[in-house]
Amino acid sequence: MQLTPLQQKRVDELLAKMTLEEKIGQMNQLSPSLVGGFDVSFEELIEMAMDGKISQEELHQKFENAERDYQEDNIRAGLIGCVMLQDPGKYNELQKIAVEESRLGIPLIIGFDVIHGYRSVYPIALAEAGAFDPDLFRRTAHMAAKESRTQGISWHFAPMIDVGRDSRWGRVSEGPGEDPYLASRFAEAKIHGLQDGAYEDAKDGTERRENYVAACMKHYVAYGAAESGRDYNTTSMSISQLHNVYLPPFKAATEAGAASAMASFNDLNGVPCTVNEYTLRRTLKERYGLKGFVVSDANAIRECIDHGIAADRYDAARQAANAGMDMDMGTSIYIEELKNAVERGDVSMEVIDEAARRILSVKMWLDLFDHPYITEEAMHRYDKLPQEHVALTLEAAKKSIVLLKNDEKVLPLKKDQKISLVGSLAASPSEIIGAWAMSWKGEDCVSILDGFKNAGADVKYFACGGPDREINDDEIAQAASFGDVIVAVVGETTAMSGEAASRADTTLPGKQRELLEKLLATGKPVVTILMNGRALALGWEAENLPTLIEGWQLGIQMGNAIASVVFGDYNPTGKLAASFPYVTGQLPIYYNHTSTGRPAGKFKFTSKYIDAPTEPAFPFGYGLSYTTYQYSDLTVEESVEAFTAKVKVKNAGNVAGTETVQLYMQDVTASLVRPVKELKGFTKVALAPGEEKEVALTLKKADMGFYNNDGEYVREDGKFRLFMGGSSAETLMQELDVRF
Ligand code: GLC
Repeated sequence: MQLTPLQQKRVDELLAKMTLEEKIGQMNQLSPSLVGGFDVSFEELIEMAMDGKISQEELHQKFENAERDYQEDNIRAGLIGCVMLQDPGKYNELQKIAVEESRLGIPLIIGFDVIHGYRSVYPIALAEAGAFDPDLFRRTAHMAAKESRTQGISWHFAPMIDVGRDSRWGRVSEGPGEDPYLASRFAEAKIHGLQDGAYEDAKDGTERRENYVAACMKHYVAYGAAESGRDYNTTSMSISQLHNVYLPPFKAATEAGAASAMASFNDLNGVPCTVNEYTLRRTLKERYGLKGFVVSDANAIRECIDHGIAADRYDAARQAANAGMDMDMGTSIYIEELKNAVERGDVSMEVIDEAARRILSVKMWLDLFDHPYITEEAMHRYDKLPQEHVALTLEAAKKSIVLLKNDEKVLPLKKDQKISLVGSLAASPSEIIGAWAMSWKGEDCVSILDGFKNAGADVKYFACGGPDREINDDEIAQAASFGDVIVAVVGETTAMSGEAASRADTTLPGKQRELLEKLLATGKPVVTILMNGRALALGWEAENLPTLIEGWQLGIQMGNAIASVVFGDYNPTGKLAASFPYVTGQLPIYYNHTSTGRPAGKFKFTSKYIDAPTEPAFPFGYGLSYTTYQYSDLTVEESVEAFTAKVKVKNAGNVAGTETVQLYMQDVTASLVRPVKELKGFTKVALAPGEEKEVALTLKKADMGFYNNDGEYVREDGKFRLFMGGSSAETLMQELDVRF
């Protein structure tokens, strides 16, 4: 986010005119409370949705019909700077009050959760990250920015870039997986996709301001390290771990120009991130140079009382403001307490001025002062989704699919085969969406059943069971009788991942494993497709299922994407952005672990379990193809600034494919123990059958260091290893003696 000198001057002049109350008003975000329109309480409604008593669509509709309190008088008085809203008509109405009826006419900024698409919903982040494709990450974000800005939303509470290593935590679905390097590439690409429209005229003739939004990287920071994988739980780690694992995506996003950040709910080393001066003011603002502002998560400032770090609302507001928290989401705690805190000298005027300036700067950068309203034309521009948006959601979906097993080469299927499609998830047009998407329309959604039909397959659907339903033996018998092959879709409902959806048992929920056993017992070939929001514990599946596809929750085009892979129109290219354990007890599990003094081995007294494997069922970076790739001849060349690793990759099969070649590094001996592997680069190579290419990846010497427990970045001479391969578990290796 970069202001012009004129924009900066306008911010300075406006700030000089503002009263203390008006400055604090900018620090106040309204989450309009639901005041009615429901036939049951809000809590009961959410429970009903979680228990599947009402569908996602019905929940959707009830929210749209609900009545809300928009605090118009507070907007008129300049006491609200931001509203969380998804309603273009209401947006113009509230904006008119702010701009034409308040004393200084400061426009509202409208924020909303647009995590993986607005109306053109694309794969959940955990899936999309597996495409290992920063250009794709950027393009999907830009599409979301275009669609949502025409609805009045100029600020996305996205990207979510929390590294997640424990899939008991439901919010792993929203983030880019277990690796800091991949998460950092994902983060910067999303920032560029959401924001860079500010710097170039759109090619489609739309107004420049309709091509970008302010990003809000979240949840800052280390939220994914919640103890036991339980949401909102405590986090505790060394300073080196914080800087080496959880901060890198936020550093990368800030360097890409992120306009804002959202602090996370968790306490970190004893201090809630909402009032953590080390992470907020000293690291994010001073060290990384955040230009925009920091917002709390919902109600998080008030929750500092529950954390036991604040005695009351006044104390919570005081601590948050002084730590560098610029905006309060949803509790009115700032407009109720901060004026008093300034007058009592507990919060300085400089703190208030800094917060107000940061917020005004983002609004000025968004062009809201000169163009606060949404035109009728813009509002209806995407009433019919443009074909290129639909095509992009399909492209993203295809690239996110991971082929885990194809032992008997049952895949790809032929369209003249009779297919029994089994599992309630297969016919659902809404469960394909995934957590944290609220703006989709049923008419745009393609279920897996729809996708098979669109592909011209001879397919018949038999529910037979599902994540939240009993097994139906009659339907299993019918499925076995009809189909030459059974395609079983199993996994999780949308409600089983995302916020407040931690699972203590991460195997397939319900009786789906039993369903699969019964399907295998029919003797018909079984192709299993997973539809889930986390890296499930797949021990039994890895051992017993010959054919397994990780289909994730791919958004509105899921059905067509899955069909294109199942029938071989698209040769799968996806890789895993997270390790899948055999059993839940292995969690947290991740490839970039340290060695320990007794690495797991045959000898009893080594670091392993007596009742489970040590390695994952499917590792980070893993993903098969309908062809096979052979790696050979790894060489490494040194230059002054870098090492360039080269490897030959051959397509040894009879179909064309695209492989993601990965580069890993190990700092073998250092002043702190370092991971056995760290991802340091990746690239794609397209290969025709029999074709061989040499692939080169460069590792800058500047990137071969790590952060120590003083938070300093250090590089140490000594032995290093470089690895290249098609997953974190299968690589060629070269040893180096490095002198920096
Ligand atoms: C939620 C989530 C956060 C979201 C915010 C606003 O509690 O933690 O990711 O952006 O509230 O909906």
